[in-house]
Amino acid sequence: MAKILIIYSTTDGHTLEICRRLKQVVEPSDHRVSIISMTDEPYLDLEPFDKIVVGASIRYGKHRPYVYEFIKRNEQILDSKPNAFFTVNVVARKPEKNRPETNPYLIKFLKQISWRPRELGVFAGKIDYQKYHFWDRQMIRFIMWITQGPTDLETVVEFTDWKKVEAFGRLISSM
Ligand SMILES: Cc1cc2nc3c(=O)[nH]c(=O)nc-3n(C[C@H](O)[C@H](O)[C@H](O)COP(=O)(O)O)c2cc1C
Repeated sequence: MAKILIIYSTTDGHTLEICRRLKQVVEPSDHRVSIISMTDEPYLDLEPFDKIVVGASIRYGKHRPYVYEFIKRNEQILDSKPNAFFTVNVVARKPEKNRPETNPYLIKFLKQISWRPRELGVFAGKIDYQKYHFWDRQMIRFIMWITQGPTDLETVVEFTDWKKVEAFGRLISSM
């Protein structure tokens, strides 16, 4: 039985939802999956795990600074095992920006780190205006307006293609 770690960075919880769906797909194929928050366990020992998946969401154009630090600190051990990285952002709701080769955040991120994840995923996130603080709500609404997304402040919309998440789960099982 392989021990799989899915370690994630989230602000509003949607990346955790994606991790949970991945676990549902991966676990039946004889794997044991631990989902751990990077902020809860920034210095987690990765050695006991057989495969490692890192997932992180975008906020104001970037993954959180501690994601870069975590990767830098663990690059060697990540490299020594089957590994994957996925990003979550709302730009990925656009078909022309929802693949590793076309998502601008992932492209930029890979230029900023030296780790080369063996598998890559891009998933569209969620917008829930009422959940955000005042300025965040105004800012994300502005971003939505310039990218022709929903601007109604009652909007709760999940752009995530769950079939694509499940396919990534099967990829993790087989890597
Ligand atoms: C304040 C704020 C800023 C955001 N900035 C971006 C952005 O620059 N680009 C983008 O594609 N998505 C952006 N998003 C959308 C998030 O990536 C999306 O809501 C995602 O589902 C968040 O995942 P999380 O809940 O795991 O943090 C932003 C969301 C918020 C609330």
